[in-house]
Amino acid sequence: MIKVGILGVGTVGTSVANILKKNRDIISARAGVEIVPVIGSVRSLDKKRDVDIELTDNSMDIIDSDVDIIVELIGGVEEPYILVSKALESGKSVVTANKALLAYHRYELQEKAGDLPLFYEASVAGGIPIIGALRNGLSANHIESIVGILNGTCNYMLTKMIKEGVSYGDVLKEAQELGYAEADPTFDVGGFDAAHKLLILASIAYGIDAKPEDILIEGIDNISQTDVDFAKEFGYEIKLLGVAKRRENGVELRVHATMVKDTHPIAKVDGVMNAVSVVGDSVGQTMFYGPGAGGDATASAVIADIIEIARGNKGPMLGYKRGLEGEALKLLETDEIESKYYLKLKVTDEPGVLASVTSALSKERISISSILQKESKVENRVRLLLTTHRCKERDIKAAINSLKALDCVGDNISFIRIEE
Ligand code: HSE
Repeated sequence: MIKVGILGVGTVGTSVANILKKNRDIISARAGVEIVPVIGSVRSLDKKRDVDIELTDNSMDIIDSDVDIIVELIGGVEEPYILVSKALESGKSVVTANKALLAYHRYELQEKAGDLPLFYEASVAGGIPIIGALRNGLSANHIESIVGILNGTCNYMLTKMIKEGVSYGDVLKEAQELGYAEADPTFDVGGFDAAHKLLILASIAYGIDAKPEDILIEGIDNISQTDVDFAKEFGYEIKLLGVAKRRENGVELRVHATMVKDTHPIAKVDGVMNAVSVVGDSVGQTMFYGPGAGGDATASAVIADIIEIARGNKGPMLGYKRGLEGEALKLLETDEIESKYYLKLKVTDEPGVLASVTSALSKERISISSILQKESKVENRVRLLLTTHRCKERDIKAAINSLKALDCVGDNISFIRIEE
């Protein structure tokens, strides 16, 4: 029999304990041994929990108990880092769903774990087995790209804003009421939650050791109705994407709102669902789709890890012991990012303005792909919306600075990156 202790019996922890009981027979058939949840920790013993295991408000009771596997679901970074480290030091296997912990400490934890199992399927895209896919199923490949909808809250909000015209504020409130959003929703709408998940995927795929502070992270709070209308007119959806792309000289890692061509499989992923598209050099394009949050869906991934441990599977945590790809791949600077861009400008409505705008772009060798001029309510002003061919972030930023310096162009220029 394998005994399981749960640090943090909240929504997911409750589901883990209950599914282990409800599906006990099939789980023990698959694991080859009976798996029993025996103890869990909570912040306050006063709150009623719907679980049939011993509860304690002292995390160390779990670490010091005779359980074989510790499931860490408390969230945060430093407190779980200390607890998981202690669990590993005492020889216990660990399963965690904690993306923030791994975004900061995955390499130290891999070192501490050695060959002890430290599994984390639930940390990225909830119920979708994307960690297993990258670590095991696709392990024969050089990974060319990973493009993912990794935050259900943002996808739910963008879907409602675009398909139903619901306002940003109203739809955020709705997502919080439905329980999708993090305790602090800026983690969702600011792109940080997706960035934590992207960093975990990038470590498995490329061996990139970066922290959230090292990569480009933007949220969804600057999307306007004009952007939405443009997207609809030109056949794009707007999604918050986590993007990892292998280039000749390194890897791009970025999280931002993106216009995605409506023919891309990821453009069809609506509502709270997550999806990850992975391109490998041998397998070609693959696509993984499913629920990225929710108690039972996340518990499904946690229990899959517990079963893997029961079967005798173990480290290394990230799936490799020595550096991948010979020389370590480096993280490319934000300026090196290559993308197509959508630009939104306000310009004066007079002869020669278009020529000035296109000339500022051409000086940075940026080629225009499409252009749309819209009348504005303000006299003598028009809105200019355009998309570019692929160029470097450095060049588009230089072009925007040149455009701002023109008398005929307003200062408020915004852009959205495009994925096709
Ligand atoms: N807040 C996250 C989301 C939950 O919306 O996807 C799962 O990490």
